[in-house]
Amino acid sequence: MRTLILGASGLVGGNCLNHFQQLGWPCLGTHFSFATDHTQFYNTLNFSDASNADIDAFKPEVIVHCGALTWVDYCEDHVEESYQKTVQSTINATVLAEKFGAKLVYLSTDYVFDGNKGYYHETDKVNPLSIYGKHKLEAEEHIKKHLSDYLICRITNVYGDEIRGKNFIARLVENMQKGDSMEMNLPIDQYATPVNAADVARAISALIEANQKGIFHFASTDYLNRVQLAERVAQYFGHDLVQINYISTAEMNQPAARPLNGGFCAAKFNNMFPHFKWTNVDDYLATKRKN
Ligand SMILES: NC(=O)c1ccc[n+]([C@@H]2O[C@H](COP(=O)([O-])OP(=O)(O)OC[C@H]3O[C@@H](n4cnc5c(N)ncnc54)[C@H](OP(=O)(O)O)[C@@H]3O)[C@@H](O)[C@H]2O)c1
Repeated sequence: MRTLILGASGLVGGNCLNHFQQLGWPCLGTHFSFATDHTQFYNTLNFSDASNADIDAFKPEVIVHCGALTWVDYCEDHVEESYQKTVQSTINATVLAEKFGAKLVYLSTDYVFDGNKGYYHETDKVNPLSIYGKHKLEAEEHIKKHLSDYLICRITNVYGDEIRGKNFIARLVENMQKGDSMEMNLPIDQYATPVNAADVARAISALIEANQKGIFHFASTDYLNRVQLAERVAQYFGHDLVQINYISTAEMNQPAARPLNGGFCAAKFNNMFPHFKWTNVDDYLATKRKN
Protein backbone atom coordinates (compact mmCIF):
# COMPACT_ATOMS: atom_id res chain seq x y z
CA MET A 1 0.00 0.00 0.00
CA ARG A 2 1.78 3.14 -1.21
CA THR A 3 1.07 5.58 1.60
CA LEU A 4 1.69 9.29 1.87
CA ILE A 5 1.69 10.50 5.48
CA LEU A 6 1.26 14.27 5.73
CA GLY A 7 2.67 15.31 9.10
CA ALA A 8 4.94 12.33 9.81
CA SER A 9 7.17 14.47 12.04
CA GLY A 10 4.33 14.55 14.58
CA LEU A 11 2.97 12.12 17.16
CA VAL A 12 0.33 10.25 15.15
CA GLY A 13 2.04 10.59 11.76
CA GLY A 14 5.39 9.40 13.14
CA ASN A 15 3.77 6.28 14.60
CA CYS A 16 1.93 5.65 11.32
CA LEU A 17 5.20 5.91 9.41
CA ASN A 18 6.93 3.42 11.74
CA HIS A 19 4.10 0.95 11.71
CA PHE A 20 3.32 1.05 7.99
CA GLN A 21 7.00 0.59 7.16
CA GLN A 22 7.07 -2.43 9.47
CA LEU A 23 4.19 -3.81 7.42
CA GLY A 24 6.34 -3.37 4.32
CA TRP A 25 4.25 -0.57 2.83
CA PRO A 26 6.18 1.91 0.68
CA CYS A 27 5.79 5.21 2.57
CA LEU A 28 6.49 8.87 2.00
CA GLY A 29 6.29 10.77 5.29
CA THR A 30 6.38 14.54 5.32
CA HIS A 31 7.33 17.28 7.77
CA PHE A 32 6.75 21.00 7.65
CA SER A 33 8.79 22.95 10.23
CA PHE A 34 10.51 20.05 12.00
CA ALA A 35 12.76 18.06 9.69
CA THR A 36 13.56 14.47 10.63
CA ASP A 37 15.82 11.80 9.11
CA HIS A 38 12.76 9.88 7.91
CA THR A 39 10.64 12.64 6.37
CA GLN A 40 10.64 15.02 3.42
CA PHE A 41 9.40 18.60 3.39
CA TYR A 42 5.86 19.18 2.17
CA ASN A 43 3.71 22.26 2.65
CA THR A 44 0.06 21.25 2.49
CA LEU A 45 -0.85 24.92 2.12
CA ASN A 46 1.18 25.52 -1.03
CA PHE A 47 1.20 22.90 -3.79
CA SER A 48 3.74 24.91 -5.80
CA ASP A 49 6.34 25.29 -3.05
CA ALA A 50 9.60 24.48 -4.85
CA SER A 51 10.84 22.50 -1.84
CA ASN A 52 7.86 20.14 -1.76
CA ALA A 53 8.52 16.39 -1.92
CA ASP A 54 7.69 14.86 -5.29
CA ILE A 55 4.30 13.33 -4.59
CA ASP A 56 3.56 12.93 -8.31
CA ALA A 57 6.45 10.50 -8.60
CA PHE A 58 5.36 8.62 -5.47
CA LYS A 59 1.72 8.13 -6.64
CA PRO A 60 0.06 7.39 -3.28
CA GLU A 61 -2.78 4.89 -2.98
CA VAL A 62 -3.53 6.12 0.54
CA ILE A 63 -3.02 9.57 2.08
CA VAL A 64 -3.01 9.89 5.87
CA HIS A 65 -3.49 13.54 6.76
CA CYS A 66 -2.14 14.41 10.22
CA GLY A 67 -1.48 18.13 9.71
CA ALA A 68 -3.54 20.53 11.84
CA LEU A 69 -3.15 23.39 14.28
CA THR A 70 -3.68 21.40 17.47
CA TRP A 71 -3.03 24.12 20.07
CA VAL A 72 -6.64 24.52 21.14
CA ASP A 73 -6.37 27.78 23.11
CA TYR A 74 -4.18 29.43 20.48
CA CYS A 75 -6.77 28.57 17.79
CA GLU A 76 -9.42 30.49 19.71
CA ASP A 77 -7.51 33.76 19.20
CA HIS A 78 -6.02 32.94 15.76
CA VAL A 79 -9.07 31.91 13.80
CA GLU A 80 -7.72 32.46 10.29
CA GLU A 81 -4.48 30.59 11.03
CA SER A 82 -6.52 27.75 12.53
CA TYR A 83 -8.73 27.69 9.43
CA GLN A 84 -5.73 27.53 7.11
CA LYS A 85 -3.85 24.82 9.00
CA THR A 86 -6.84 22.65 9.79
CA VAL A 87 -9.54 23.26 7.15
CA GLN A 88 -7.60 24.51 4.13
CA SER A 89 -4.89 21.86 4.60
CA THR A 90 -7.66 19.23 4.53
CA ILE A 91 -9.26 20.77 1.44
CA ASN A 92 -5.84 20.45 -0.19
CA ALA A 93 -5.38 16.88 1.01
CA THR A 94 -8.78 16.13 -0.56
CA VAL A 95 -7.55 17.59 -3.85
CA LEU A 96 -4.52 15.28 -3.67
CA ALA A 97 -6.73 12.27 -2.90
CA GLU A 98 -8.92 13.05 -5.90
CA LYS A 99 -5.91 13.57 -8.15
CA PHE A 100 -4.37 10.19 -7.29
CA GLY A 101 -7.61 8.27 -6.72
CA ALA A 102 -6.28 7.62 -3.20
CA LYS A 103 -8.13 6.79 0.02
CA LEU A 104 -7.94 9.74 2.44
CA VAL A 105 -7.49 9.03 6.14
CA TYR A 106 -8.26 12.00 8.36
CA LEU A 107 -7.58 12.23 12.11
CA SER A 108 -10.30 14.00 14.03
CA THR A 109 -11.20 14.58 17.65
CA ASP A 110 -13.82 14.45 20.44
CA TYR A 111 -13.77 18.27 20.34
CA VAL A 112 -16.43 17.94 17.61
CA PHE A 113 -18.77 17.08 20.53
CA ASP A 114 -19.94 19.29 23.39
CA GLY A 115 -18.95 16.93 26.19
CA ASN A 116 -22.41 16.69 27.76
CA LYS A 117 -22.63 12.93 27.22
CA GLY A 118 -19.18 11.32 27.06
CA TYR A 119 -18.12 8.00 25.63
CA TYR A 120 -19.28 9.11 22.17
CA HIS A 121 -20.44 6.79 19.38
CA GLU A 122 -20.05 7.59 15.66
CA THR A 123 -23.79 8.27 15.40
CA ASP A 124 -23.91 10.84 18.21
CA LYS A 125 -24.82 14.41 17.39
CA VAL A 126 -21.85 16.75 16.93
CA ASN A 127 -21.76 20.19 18.58
CA PRO A 128 -18.26 21.68 18.82
CA LEU A 129 -17.60 24.31 21.50
CA SER A 130 -14.30 25.76 20.28
CA ILE A 131 -12.72 27.11 17.09
CA TYR A 132 -10.46 24.04 16.98
CA GLY A 133 -13.48 21.72 17.25
CA LYS A 134 -15.46 23.71 14.67
CA HIS A 135 -12.58 23.61 12.20
CA LYS A 136 -11.98 19.89 12.71
CA LEU A 137 -15.67 19.31 12.02
CA GLU A 138 -15.63 21.58 8.96
CA ALA A 139 -12.70 19.56 7.61
CA GLU A 140 -14.66 16.32 8.23
CA GLU A 141 -17.69 17.72 6.41
CA HIS A 142 -15.57 18.73 3.44
CA ILE A 143 -14.15 15.23 3.13
CA LYS A 144 -17.60 13.60 3.37
CA LYS A 145 -18.95 15.92 0.68
CA HIS A 146 -16.11 15.47 -1.83
CA LEU A 147 -14.84 11.91 -1.40
CA SER A 148 -16.41 8.49 -1.23
CA ASP A 149 -13.27 6.60 -0.20
CA TYR A 150 -12.29 8.10 3.15
CA LEU A 151 -11.72 7.20 6.77
CA ILE A 152 -12.36 9.73 9.53
CA CYS A 153 -10.70 8.34 12.64
CA ARG A 154 -11.61 10.25 15.79
CA ILE A 155 -9.10 10.12 18.64
CA THR A 156 -8.42 12.00 21.86
CA ASN A 157 -5.67 12.42 24.47
CA VAL A 158 -3.07 10.73 22.31
CA TYR A 159 0.17 9.69 24.00
CA GLY A 160 3.16 7.53 23.11
CA ASP A 161 6.64 7.66 21.71
CA GLU A 162 7.44 10.56 19.41
CA ILE A 163 10.62 12.31 18.34
CA ARG A 164 9.83 15.53 20.18
CA GLY A 165 8.23 13.81 23.20
CA LYS A 166 5.77 16.69 23.50
CA ASN A 167 2.58 14.86 24.46
CA PHE A 168 1.31 15.18 28.05
CA ILE A 169 2.27 11.69 29.27
CA ALA A 170 5.64 11.62 27.49
CA ARG A 171 6.57 14.99 29.04
CA LEU A 172 5.55 13.85 32.51
CA VAL A 173 7.47 10.59 32.15
CA GLU A 174 10.57 12.39 30.93
CA ASN A 175 10.50 14.96 33.73
CA MET A 176 9.91 12.33 36.40
CA GLN A 177 12.62 10.05 35.01
CA LYS A 178 15.04 12.97 35.22
CA GLY A 179 13.99 13.47 38.84
CA ASP A 180 12.58 16.95 38.20
CA SER A 181 10.05 18.07 40.75
CA MET A 182 6.87 19.61 39.37
CA GLU A 183 3.80 21.43 40.52
CA MET A 184 0.82 21.34 38.17
CA ASN A 185 -2.68 22.77 38.16
CA LEU A 186 -4.82 20.18 36.42
CA PRO A 187 -8.55 20.01 35.73
CA ILE A 188 -10.38 17.31 37.65
CA ASP A 189 -13.45 17.45 35.42
CA GLN A 190 -12.14 16.86 31.86
CA TYR A 191 -12.65 13.19 31.04
CA ALA A 192 -11.45 11.42 27.91
CA THR A 193 -10.23 8.11 26.57
CA PRO A 194 -6.43 8.35 26.20
CA VAL A 195 -5.08 6.31 23.33
CA ASN A 196 -1.57 5.26 22.35
CA ALA A 197 -0.45 6.62 18.95
CA ALA A 198 1.01 3.19 18.14
CA ASP A 199 -2.48 1.69 18.54
CA VAL A 200 -3.93 4.46 16.38
CA ALA A 201 -1.47 3.48 13.63
CA ARG A 202 -2.35 -0.24 13.97
CA ALA A 203 -6.08 0.50 13.90
CA ILE A 204 -5.70 2.66 10.78
CA SER A 205 -3.77 -0.06 8.98
CA ALA A 206 -6.43 -2.64 9.93
CA LEU A 207 -9.16 -0.43 8.44
CA ILE A 208 -7.13 0.21 5.28
CA GLU A 209 -6.37 -3.48 4.79
CA ALA A 210 -10.06 -4.29 5.21
CA ASN A 211 -10.90 -1.48 2.75
CA GLN A 212 -13.28 0.11 5.26
CA LYS A 213 -14.79 3.55 4.78
CA GLY A 214 -16.51 6.12 6.98
CA ILE A 215 -16.17 7.39 10.54
CA PHE A 216 -14.54 5.32 13.30
CA HIS A 217 -13.95 6.09 16.96
CA PHE A 218 -10.73 4.77 18.50
CA ALA A 219 -10.33 4.12 22.24
CA SER A 220 -8.90 1.64 24.69
CA THR A 221 -10.61 0.87 28.00
CA ASP A 222 -9.08 3.83 29.91
CA TYR A 223 -11.50 6.61 30.85
CA LEU A 224 -9.54 9.16 32.82
CA ASN A 225 -9.44 12.82 33.68
CA ARG A 226 -6.20 14.82 33.56
CA VAL A 227 -5.52 14.45 37.29
CA GLN A 228 -5.97 10.68 37.14
CA LEU A 229 -3.69 10.56 34.11
CA ALA A 230 -0.92 12.48 35.88
CA GLU A 231 -1.36 10.40 39.03
CA ARG A 232 -1.04 7.23 36.97
CA VAL A 233 2.38 8.42 35.81
CA ALA A 234 3.32 9.39 39.36
CA GLN A 235 2.43 5.88 40.57
CA TYR A 236 5.22 4.56 38.37
CA PHE A 237 7.83 7.27 38.78
CA GLY A 238 7.30 8.73 42.23
CA HIS A 239 4.67 10.80 43.98
CA ASP A 240 7.37 12.70 45.83
CA LEU A 241 8.34 14.46 42.61
CA VAL A 242 4.99 15.90 41.72
CA GLN A 243 2.43 18.08 43.38
CA ILE A 244 -0.89 18.10 41.59
CA ASN A 245 -3.36 20.84 42.42
CA TYR A 246 -6.89 19.78 41.50
CA ILE A 247 -8.93 22.54 39.99
CA SER A 248 -12.06 22.80 37.91
CA THR A 249 -12.08 23.71 34.23
CA ALA A 250 -14.01 26.87 35.10
CA GLU A 251 -11.22 27.91 37.48
CA MET A 252 -8.60 27.36 34.76
CA ASN A 253 -10.21 30.10 32.70
CA GLN A 254 -8.88 28.73 29.41
CA PRO A 255 -9.66 30.68 26.21
CA ALA A 256 -11.24 27.63 24.52
CA ALA A 257 -14.18 25.73 26.03
CA ARG A 258 -13.54 22.00 26.53
CA PRO A 259 -15.91 19.06 26.17
CA LEU A 260 -15.89 17.92 29.81
CA ASN A 261 -17.28 14.44 29.32
CA GLY A 262 -15.43 13.55 26.15
CA GLY A 263 -13.91 10.31 24.98
CA PHE A 264 -15.07 7.56 22.71
CA CYS A 265 -16.74 4.20 22.55
CA ALA A 266 -14.89 2.07 19.97
CA ALA A 267 -17.61 -0.59 19.71
CA LYS A 268 -18.02 -0.16 15.94
CA PHE A 269 -14.31 -0.81 15.38
CA ASN A 270 -14.09 -3.53 18.04
CA ASN A 271 -17.02 -5.47 16.57
CA MET A 272 -15.35 -5.37 13.18
CA PHE A 273 -11.93 -6.41 14.54
CA PRO A 274 -12.63 -8.58 17.59
CA HIS A 275 -9.00 -9.72 17.86
CA PHE A 276 -7.54 -6.23 17.88
CA LYS A 277 -5.91 -5.48 21.26
CA TRP A 278 -5.86 -1.88 22.44
CA THR A 279 -3.17 -1.16 25.01
CA ASN A 280 -3.67 1.01 28.09
CA VAL A 281 -1.75 3.80 29.79
CA ASP A 282 -0.45 1.23 32.32
CA ASP A 283 1.00 -0.90 29.51
CA TYR A 284 2.85 2.13 28.16
CA LEU A 285 4.15 3.22 31.57
CA ALA A 286 5.35 -0.32 32.32
CA THR A 287 7.49 -0.25 29.15
CA LYS A 288 8.94 3.11 30.18
CA ARG A 289 9.85 1.83 33.63
CA LYS A 290 11.83 -1.05 32.11
CA ASN A 291 13.96 1.30 29.95
N1 LIG B 1 -2.61 14.56 19.86
C1 LIG B 1 -3.87 14.43 20.24
O1 LIG B 1 -4.16 14.25 21.43
C2 LIG B 1 -4.98 14.50 19.22
C3 LIG B 1 -6.28 14.36 19.67
C4 LIG B 1 -7.32 14.42 18.74
C5 LIG B 1 -7.06 14.59 17.41
N2 LIG B 1 -5.77 14.75 17.00
C6 LIG B 1 -5.54 14.99 15.56
O2 LIG B 1 -4.57 14.09 15.07
C7 LIG B 1 -3.78 14.73 14.07
C8 LIG B 1 -2.31 14.56 14.40
O3 LIG B 1 -2.08 15.12 15.70
P1 LIG B 1 -0.65 15.05 16.38
O4 LIG B 1 -0.85 15.07 17.83
O5 LIG B 1 0.16 13.96 15.76
O6 LIG B 1 -0.09 16.47 15.94
P2 LIG B 1 1.41 16.97 15.86
O7 LIG B 1 2.31 16.08 16.64
O8 LIG B 1 1.36 18.42 16.18
O9 LIG B 1 1.73 16.80 14.31
C9 LIG B 1 1.16 17.62 13.33
C10 LIG B 1 1.92 17.38 12.04
O10 LIG B 1 1.39 18.23 10.99
C11 LIG B 1 2.49 18.84 10.31
N3 LIG B 1 2.07 20.11 9.69
C12 LIG B 1 1.66 21.24 10.30
N4 LIG B 1 1.41 22.21 9.39
C13 LIG B 1 1.68 21.67 8.17
C14 LIG B 1 1.65 22.15 6.83
N5 LIG B 1 1.27 23.42 6.51
N6 LIG B 1 1.99 21.33 5.82
C15 LIG B 1 2.38 20.07 6.09
N7 LIG B 1 2.43 19.54 7.33
C16 LIG B 1 2.10 20.34 8.36
C17 LIG B 1 3.52 19.02 11.39
O11 LIG B 1 4.78 19.22 10.81
P3 LIG B 1 6.00 19.97 11.59
O12 LIG B 1 5.88 19.61 13.02
O13 LIG B 1 7.21 19.42 10.90
O14 LIG B 1 5.79 21.44 11.35
C18 LIG B 1 3.40 17.71 12.15
O15 LIG B 1 4.13 16.70 11.49
C19 LIG B 1 -4.25 16.19 14.01
O16 LIG B 1 -5.13 16.33 12.95
C20 LIG B 1 -4.99 16.38 15.31
O17 LIG B 1 -6.04 17.34 15.19
C21 LIG B 1 -4.72 14.70 17.85
